[in-house]
Amino acid sequence: MSTGAGAGAGVTVRVPAKVNVQLAVGAARPDGFHDLANVFLAVSLFDEVTATLADSLTVSCTGPDADQVPLDRTNLAARAAETLAARHGISPSVHLHIAKNIPVAGGMAGGSADGAAALVACDALWGLNTPLAELLDICAELGSDVPFSLVGGAALGTGRGELLTPVEAGTFHWVFAVADGGLSTPAVFREFDRLAEGREIPEPVASPALLAALASGDPEALAGALSNDLQPAALSLRPSLAATLGAGVEAGALAALVSGSGPTTAFLVRDPESALKVAAALEASGTCRTTRVASSPAPGAVVLP
Ligand code: C5P
Repeated sequence: MSTGAGAGAGVTVRVPAKVNVQLAVGAARPDGFHDLANVFLAVSLFDEVTATLADSLTVSCTGPDADQVPLDRTNLAARAAETLAARHGISPSVHLHIAKNIPVAGGMAGGSADGAAALVACDALWGLNTPLAELLDICAELGSDVPFSLVGGAALGTGRGELLTPVEAGTFHWVFAVADGGLSTPAVFREFDRLAEGREIPEPVASPALLAALASGDPEALAGALSNDLQPAALSLRPSLAATLGAGVEAGALAALVSGSGPTTAFLVRDPESALKVAAALEASGTCRTTRVASSPAPGAVVLP
C-alpha cells in the first residue's frame, strides 16, 4: 500500500466555489428534498484544506470569515474524514486545516467544497486510492452539492443535485457580492415551499437555451438565460438583496442573480476589466459587505504539489 504522504507531511487540496446558472426546483419530495435541474458552474474562488496525521480528528480554520466556521464534527470536512475512515475500517486520526476564502453559508457551496477537499486530502494522506465512483458516493452521502465540488467544471445536477452530467461551458467572468451574515439552505427551501403553496410546481428541466448559451461562451446570451427558482425565497427572507442586485446592474453587470440559496449575489460581466469596475461600484454602494472577482469554469478538487 502506498502511504500517500509520509508521516508529518501534509496533503493540501484546493477546491472551488460554485454558482448555479440555472436552479430549477420541483415540488418537495416525501423525503423533504426537492428534485432539481441544477446547472453548476465552478468558479475560481478557492478554499484549501490541508490534512496532516494527528492523534485525533481536529479542525482549524483561517481566513476573513473563519470565526463563522464550526470546528466540531458538524463541519463537513470532519464528516468527510469520518465517513472515509469508517468505510476503510480505520481511525480518522487527522488534523484538517481549512484556509477559507469562499463565503460562509453564502450559497456558493463553501461547506460542500471543504467536505470534498477533505475527502480527497484524507484519501491521499492515508494512501487509500479510493476509486472515484466510491468517493462520489461518499460525497452524495455528505450533501447534495458535494459531488459537484469534487468534479468542478460545469455540470447538470439532477435528483437532489447529486447526479451529475458534465456540460460544455466557455469562459465567463463574474463578480460576487458577499452579504452580511448567511442564509440557511433548509430555511430558503422552506420559504420556497411556502411561496409555492397552492401552485402547481412543474417538473424541473434543464433549459436548452441556457445550455447552448453556456457552451457558446457568449456572455450576452448567458445573461439572458440565467435563472434561479430559489431567488424569490431568498429575497423574501432577505429583502435587502434586491438593492445589491440593482446596484450591480446599474454598475454595468450584464445580469444579476442570487447565488444558489444566497445570500451571496452573482453578477455576470463581459470581461475582467468590467469585473473590477462592477466590484468597485458594488463596494461603494454600501449594499454588500465585500466582493470577490472570479472566472469560470474552474477545476474541481485537486491535490496541490
Ligand atoms: O443536501 P444538503 O445537506 O446540502 O441539503 C441541505 C438542506 O437543503 C436539506 O436538508 C433540505 O432542506 C434542502 N435541500 C432540498 N432539496 C435539495 C437539496 C437541499 O430541499 N435538492
